[in-house]
Amino acid sequence: MNKVILIASGKGGTGKTVFTANAGAVLAQRGHKVALIDMDMGLRNLDLCLGLEDKVVYDVADVLTGLCRIKQALIRDKRFSCLYLIAAPPMGKTAEITPLHMKVLYDKLKKHFEYILIDSPSGINEILLAAAFGADTAVIITAPEYAAMRDADVLDSSLRESGVTNIKYVVNKVRGDLLSTGLVPGMNEIASKLRSDMAGAIQYDDNIHLAANYGLPIVFKRGTYIEENYSRIVDRIIK
Ligand SMILES: Nc1ncnc2c1ncn2[C@@H]1O[C@H](COP(=O)(O)OP(=O)(O)O)[C@@H](O)[C@H]1O
Ligand SMILES: [Mg+2]
Repeated sequence: MNKVILIASGKGGTGKTVFTANAGAVLAQRGHKVALIDMDMGLRNLDLCLGLEDKVVYDVADVLTGLCRIKQALIRDKRFSCLYLIAAPPMGKTAEITPLHMKVLYDKLKKHFEYILIDSPSGINEILLAAAFGADTAVIITAPEYAAMRDADVLDSSLRESGVTNIKYVVNKVRGDLLSTGLVPGMNEIASKLRSDMAGAIQYDDNIHLAANYGLPIVFKRGTYIEENYSRIVDRIIK
């Protein structure tokens, strides 16, 4: 059954956008039809992470206000057979976004796409909660630091209150050198503090950062430890 997966985090900069791009690319490389929606209104950067910034004409606000059809806002990433993006609007452009608007959009997209991944704004706000309405799964991106863990826990509660029951989390930006000092929370401590299941951990790796900066999902290069790790995490999220 086709699924909407919300990628969220309480804290900013944990890696939601990079994760959305790479998880979407993993699924598209497997031959699934995937749509990525950037809901970070005014602060869009999923288009940059995918190197599609020059292709954006219409955005999700245009779709939700009826200015264009969904098809007109879908930008195809030609490096993958079935990966599409709907960009977020630039700063200053507003649109009424209610849970109902999002549910209608999801229902329409689900007729054509097997996976719809939503890149969320940081924090817990009206847009996030609207985007959560109708999502089948939420993935909380957190990091081995106490602020990110606490924010992830608060977000987890809010998502549950909004009716999202299938929630997993990913610990991103894990640094082995710091873990071994015992000065940052380890995986066991994170697992004991967060109520949902962990889908996996992603190392802090300059290559992930550099690839995102150059508009290439790093999983495009197959057979690396990074691509294999993303792939295993995606397996746990969609199962
Ligand atoms: N695993 C990682 N290793 C190294 N850098 C990362 C990793 N994940 C994300 N980043 C970098 O961290 C920054 C924030 O990531 P981003 O996905 O934009 O966060 P968010 O969308 O949660 O605000 C970016 O510069 C990105 O390249
Ligand atoms: Mg982001």
